[in-house]
Amino acid sequence: MHMTRRSLMAGLAASATLPALSARAAAQSNLRAQVAEMQLLPEGYGRTKIWGFGGTMPGSEIRVAQGARVRRTLVNELPQSTSVHWHGIRIDNAMDGVSGVTQTAVAPSDKFDYDFIVPDAGTYWYHAHNRAVEQVARGLYGALIVEEPTPPDIDREEVLVLDDWRIDPATAQIDDDFSSPHDRSHAGRTGNFIATNGIYGLTKTARRNERLRLRLINASNARIFEMQLAGLEGWIVALDGMPLATPQRFGENLRLGPAQRADLFVDVTADEGGTAQVQAVLDGRVTPQVTFDITGSASTARRTEPAPLPNNDHAMVSLSDATPLKLIMEGGAMGGLRSATLGGERMDFRTLVNEGQMWAFNGAIGRAEDPPLARLSRGDHVRLSVRNDTAFPHAMHLHGMHFHEIDADGAMGPLRDTTLLFADQTREIAFVADNPGNWLLHCHMLSHAASGMMTRIEVT
Ligand code: C2O
Ligand code: CU
Repeated sequence: MHMTRRSLMAGLAASATLPALSARAAAQSNLRAQVAEMQLLPEGYGRTKIWGFGGTMPGSEIRVAQGARVRRTLVNELPQSTSVHWHGIRIDNAMDGVSGVTQTAVAPSDKFDYDFIVPDAGTYWYHAHNRAVEQVARGLYGALIVEEPTPPDIDREEVLVLDDWRIDPATAQIDDDFSSPHDRSHAGRTGNFIATNGIYGLTKTARRNERLRLRLINASNARIFEMQLAGLEGWIVALDGMPLATPQRFGENLRLGPAQRADLFVDVTADEGGTAQVQAVLDGRVTPQVTFDITGSASTARRTEPAPLPNNDHAMVSLSDATPLKLIMEGGAMGGLRSATLGGERMDFRTLVNEGQMWAFNGAIGRAEDPPLARLSRGDHVRLSVRNDTAFPHAMHLHGMHFHEIDADGAMGPLRDTTLLFADQTREIAFVADNPGNWLLHCHMLSHAASGMMTRIEVT
């Protein structure tokens, strides 16, 4: 509408400096997992030792065209074994990066070649998937952006990776107690420093009536980010990478559980000389997440309502033919769990807690090596009811396939790869098991996944 050809070209030029790989001409490059030092805390505090892909937190952004082939050699320069999971990508199982399930963890100074196709456009991310509670908290994650073949009508975009670090301000170092029984049994490892793209109090500029695409990625271990906007108005156009059939007007807060993403199209409505903000509501307090100083005007009026993003091709689920599955989540502090099985052996809760295990799925402490929740045949339609019988929220993530959330009246909701459930909540999800392999289903509150909230779905 009000976007000039020139601003469109500028947008294109900006993305053209990043490698857009076609399936034929995929370049192999290294993804180094490194120990590094960064100034994470504001000036005046010390520097922080992190683990990062490419030596930064967040790690180097990967940006490719839809349908492209991604080739990266993980070079492990860390003192610990690691692996890379490409979160939300409907990927070939062998490339899913889950240590102990789809590959062996890559030992220090070893390498591993990842090579896969990205079938869907959208906002994804990649992160370590070995001892994830520690490695993600230390910084091993980055954005993975898959661009639509036709760029949407926006002026420019911002990738905003949200995190909360637990840092001791006196030493500026990341708290290295990654197996705290309190974190495991309560809400998980939440931090005391809120950051965007590795910066505390991120500031940018924008112009009035500019339309921005914001790609929000919650990379935190356990925090639920409740986002709101000030001086910006717009729409949610995609969740967990997948476009909404109709852009949804941004009204109430947007809630992002760990690992969830949202794409927003927002228009700058703040006046020149003023500020606009993306804000997080943290423990009831409104806190700036990103502040935009409004330096001028992009045009005299706002654009009209955006068109939906083009669909990613997905098999339709038929609920009437779907196999029903059930997952009951129990345990944790104040959960009332008396006993559960661990490796087939029944134990009382106190014994389990001493083993560092706090949570159960269908009466069993979940571990990747235990029998799967379900063995499905390729093409099966599935309807999985997940019940949260615990006192805490959980963000359940299925690898390899997106699912629909089914709403209370049985209507098919948006496609997601991670679904957030509050205490006492039950949610049905439905999907077509069209990707063969051994897929993890776990809580993305990473302390929970490490202490029982993990199972698998096998598709043969
Ligand atoms: Cu984002 Cu099992 O991972
Ligand atoms: Cu959880």
